[in-house]
Order: sequence, then C-alpha cells, then structure tokens
Amino acid sequence: MSDPTTAVIVVAAGSGTRLGHPEPKAFVPLGDDTILGVALDAVLGMHETPHIVVVVPGDRVDQTRSRHEPAAAAASAAFDVVAGGATRQESVSRGLAVLPRAVDVVLVHDAARPLTPSIVFDEVAAAVRSRRRGVVPALDVVDTIKRVGSHGRVVETVDRAELAAVQTPQGFPRVALQEAYVAATTEFTDDAALAASAGLAIDVVPGDTRAFKITVPADLRRAEAIVAERVGARGARGPGGPATMPRVGTGIDVHAFADDPDAPLWLAGLHWPGERGLSGHSDGDAASHAICDALLAAAGLGDVGAVFGTGDPRFEGAHGEVFLAETVRRVREAGYVVGNVTLQVIGNRPKLAPRRAEAEALLSGIVGAPVSVAATTTDALGFTGRGEGVAAIATALLVRA
Ligand code: CTP
Ligand code: MG
Repeated sequence: MSDPTTAVIVVAAGSGTRLGHPEPKAFVPLGDDTILGVALDAVLGMHETPHIVVVVPGDRVDQTRSRHEPAAAAASAAFDVVAGGATRQESVSRGLAVLPRAVDVVLVHDAARPLTPSIVFDEVAAAVRSRRRGVVPALDVVDTIKRVGSHGRVVETVDRAELAAVQTPQGFPRVALQEAYVAATTEFTDDAALAASAGLAIDVVPGDTRAFKITVPADLRRAEAIVAERVGARGARGPGGPATMPRVGTGIDVHAFADDPDAPLWLAGLHWPGERGLSGHSDGDAASHAICDALLAAAGLGDVGAVFGTGDPRFEGAHGEVFLAETVRRVREAGYVVGNVTLQVIGNRPKLAPRRAEAEALLSGIVGAPVSVAATTTDALGFTGRGEGVAAIATALLVRA
C-alpha cells in the first residue's frame, strides 16, 4: 500500500477548564469510550485511510498510544501520538512537525468535536485536494447577530447572510499550512485565520450540526444523549456487538471412555452408576464442557481450554458443574444473561432418555436459564458408533444484561 497523502491532526491537549472535569477534556468519558475515542472513530470511518496524529497532554502520550493504536492498526492507519503545547496553536504545530513527507493534504480537528461525521472529513479532504485552498466546514448563522458596544448598547444588526459559524476539521494544502505556522507570530482563533493571514484563500463547505464543540457541561450532556441514541438505534460498538442483538455460540467436546472399567461416569452433571467413565484431566463430562464452550463463544470469551487450562490443578478431576458455574459467572460479569442452551449428546451409552428431565433440571439450575437435553446415536458409524467415546454439541444464546 502506498503511503497516505492525507493526514488528520487531532488536537486533544487542552485541559478542558470550562468543562470542569478532573481529567483533560479529551479523556472525559463519553458513552462507553472517551471524547477522544469517539473522535478517533469518526476519523477511522473516513473513506480513505489517513495518517493520524493525535496531540495530547505530555503525560498522556503513552496511555493514548496503547489505548488507540490497536484500532488504528486494525484500519491500517499510521498513528502517531505527540505531546501538545500550552496553546492550541502550539499543539497543532507540534502535530505538523511529525508529518511524513508523503502527506500533501492536512486536516486539523478538535477532539472536542467528537460527533463530527466521517463524511465531513472526506468532503473537506476532497475539496482541499481539488481546489488547492484551505477549506473549512461552516454552518449558517440562524440567530440575528448584533454588534454590541460598551455598556451593553446595541450598535447595529450585522447582516447574517455574510456570516458563518465554522467548525473543524479544517483542511489545507500541507506545505501552505506549515509555512503559515512558521510565519505566525501571534495567536489566531483557528487554523483558517492563521492560514489566511499568510495569504492562503479559504473556502467553506457545508458543516454539520453534530460537529458541535463540547465546551461546557451542557454540551457533554447533549453529546451523551446523541451517543445513547446511536447505541439504541444501531447497537453498542466494539466486541460486544449491537446491544439489541442476541449472541449465539456453539461448543463441541469429545471424551474417550477410560481404560479403567471401574472409572465412574459423569455426564451432563450427573453421576451414572454402572456406566463406564470417560477419561480426561477433569471428570470427562463432555456435555458440560460443550455447554461451557458454547457460552464462552457466545460471550466472545474464548474457550474452555483457554479459560480453565488443563494445567491448572484446581480443575483436576473437577466435575462439570464447577466449570459450568464459573463459566456462567464470567458470562454474567461480561454483561450477558443466558437466554437458553441446547445440548445434544452423541454416543451409544449411557441411555439418556430415562434421566433427561433430571439432567435438564440440574443444568438449568446451574446455568440459570432453560437447558434442553437431547441424545442421539450415529448408526454404528465413527468413534461414537464403535463405542469408543462420547461427543456432545451445545448451542447457547445470550442477550445483553
Ligand atoms: N487544545 C490543544 N492544546 C491546547 C489547548 C487546546 O490541543 N493547549 C485542543 C483541545 O484539546 C480541544 C481543541 O484544542 O480539542 C479546542 O480547544 P478547547 O475547546 O478550548 O479545549 P480546551 O482548551 O481543552 O478547553 P478550555 O478552553 O475550556 O480549557
Ligand atoms: Mg481552550
């Protein structure tokens, strides 16, 4: 893949004095993420994959890198994190300083505008590329604007047709912006003003009301409401998947009959007197283990081997219900409730039907949801048909707690 030619600098090094949280503004929680995390999601949602530079307070550089690099890597986006400066302008210039040579269009974005849609980034980048000018997203001003003099006296009404409220990301030809930054000797209120002072022409493209800046606590509440609405409509983000969508998992386990004819049989949580036992590090209860795997798979928590480990002495000879109870605890801890579980045992022996209700009652009690139990033989085919062992297959359905 060729090097990205578009970079997005996300400035997140401010302290958020007006928001009044103990942590810097970009690190304040928003939904199940932070303001910065939500802002970066929008950048990663761009049509093209940009080079991303995040500018954060000096003591947050390492934390930011380890928290957000995986998502950037998953999107194949180059990702730099640098320490910011005392002013926004200084923070932007530190971001500019690390841009790779290949970049020719740069967008500067406030992390404090986390809900800016990805399409705005795309449109700004495309406009800079085609026009070779600075480009800022802007909204019409809807209120009537007055110029107010001293003592609160209205001097005049300003023609609002000439006014626009500008947002970020603001995009520029890279070299022009960098030169403007080098030339700047005073503080400007935005990058466009700084670039214009160096003679660059600036155009506006349509902004988006969702690109509002979180400045005071009421802005954060508004952002929280929008994020909550999004979760309701599309489901939660991340490995949990959509909040409204159930999650299904499948598990299979096989154990051979033990060499020792006197080994006790434990299956589906029950002891089966007079039946030959199954071999295994634990009690060999293939049915319980299959249910564990189905539950863990549905919750995205791995599998029995990874969670319990055959090397762990605590589980040596342990009964299936020990694994099952611990699995259910983990699934609940991960934020799920079990909807139901189905289990099918495959083998010649034991005959399950006479104790099916007993098995269902026991397993349902441990799982805390209906567990239905079925059994089948394999028409004398395969290892189960030859009576060498027992297989079990389970399906679990989870919903978000
Ligand atoms: N910013 C920055 N470095 C600074 C100051 C601000 O990177 N020294 C960033 C902020 O993190 C924010 C954006 O510039 O994403 C816009 O600034 P603002 O909304 O003013 O944020 P803060 O400066 O953090 O807030 P406050 O002014 O209330 O302290
Ligand atoms: Mg500020």
